[in-house]
Amino acid sequence: MIGQCAVVILKESIKLTMYKTITEGSASIHVPVNEKISHKLDVFYNPVMKFNRDISILLLNSIESKNLTIADPLAGSGVRGIRFMCELDRGKIATIAFNDHSAKACALIKKNIELNHDSARSRPYTITNQDANMFLLQSKGFDYIDIDPFGSPNPFLNNAVIRLSRTGLLAVTATDTSSLCGTYARVCRRRYWAQPHHNHLMHELGLRILIRKVQLVASQFEKALEPVFSYSKEHYMRVFFAVRKSKSAVDKIIDQHGTYQDAGPLWTGRLWDNELVKRMMNRSKPLPYPFDRECLNRIAQEAKISTIGFYDIHMICKAHKMPAVPKFARIIDSVKQKGYLISPTHFSPTGLRTTMPREGFEELVRNCI
Ligand SMILES: C[S@@+](CC[C@H](N)C(=O)[O-])C[C@H]1O[C@@H](n2cnc3c(N)ncnc32)[C@H](O)[C@@H]1O
Repeated sequence: MIGQCAVVILKESIKLTMYKTITEGSASIHVPVNEKISHKLDVFYNPVMKFNRDISILLLNSIESKNLTIADPLAGSGVRGIRFMCELDRGKIATIAFNDHSAKACALIKKNIELNHDSARSRPYTITNQDANMFLLQSKGFDYIDIDPFGSPNPFLNNAVIRLSRTGLLAVTATDTSSLCGTYARVCRRRYWAQPHHNHLMHELGLRILIRKVQLVASQFEKALEPVFSYSKEHYMRVFFAVRKSKSAVDKIIDQHGTYQDAGPLWTGRLWDNELVKRMMNRSKPLPYPFDRECLNRIAQEAKISTIGFYDIHMICKAHKMPAVPKFARIIDSVKQKGYLISPTHFSPTGLRTTMPREGFEELVRNCI
């Protein structure tokens, strides 16, 4: 639960900054008292990104790897890494390295780790105050690197890939969705070397454009990045990649780059590893704090269907001048009866993902009224 518990003033602050203590997951965190979330803040904490951190923990607890060296190069308040310390299974963490170029952020991370001394289970950690690229390059490398910047992850991709272990995991957040979703198509072409779409599919296609870009960066170093869990939510996109150091695996990744309608080039392969999603679903059932289960449920259903894109039911109804929108449950039942796969999609509340071809599907929707 995110709630205000106390207000403190940290001594390290040159300018007096008011702090409050909140609870996120199993961690208590001092965060600045801010009216507005902005990258101009002294130290950054965004409660809206709780789901992003919840999913990271679920995913790391759902993979078999143990003894991971973890890097949080853009750590902000430290909430992500501290939640890892408190919530990852025993044996999961070998070390965790926090880094931020803001001295205030580093001072706060130290305080926050002390605040969680009892539940952080004495995991070995370091805190450095460097540019993230220097931090990555000067390191010996990591099994898990979490790139969680303001805006585009581009400035950090090269060095993250270089320092990712041969069988590691890379997590990437992008918040520059206005370029990936086609509001600023030119920016997308410059940053992501692809043409976006600004229509009902923009979030899925933008995510696929982001995936291809990260894969291309990795391919230069003969590292194949396979997406194992991806999603788009609110103002950001997020992808977890499993890495393999192999020339032939890189070739197979690049073979799955193509276009969809007029968008791309983009990743045309799978967005999820189904087995991993199942394990994450199971793990999520007993979570001791509020969690957006609806989003994960939708992903678990649509992960079984390997199509690119989905149908927007409201658009179909409008195009056919239908007097009302049929019940989604009715459409889903009818499609299943015809032997096709169908599911809601987390990308849009008005979308349905199905293997049924467009013509037959539109006809079916019209008959569901
Ligand atoms: C979006 S916030 C990170 C939020 C944090 N990962 C979380 O889950 O709450 C980005 C952080 O990166 C830091 N930062 C931005 N550019 C940086 C750079 N080049 N090197 C190191 N830190 C940087 C900022 O000070 C900020 O704390």
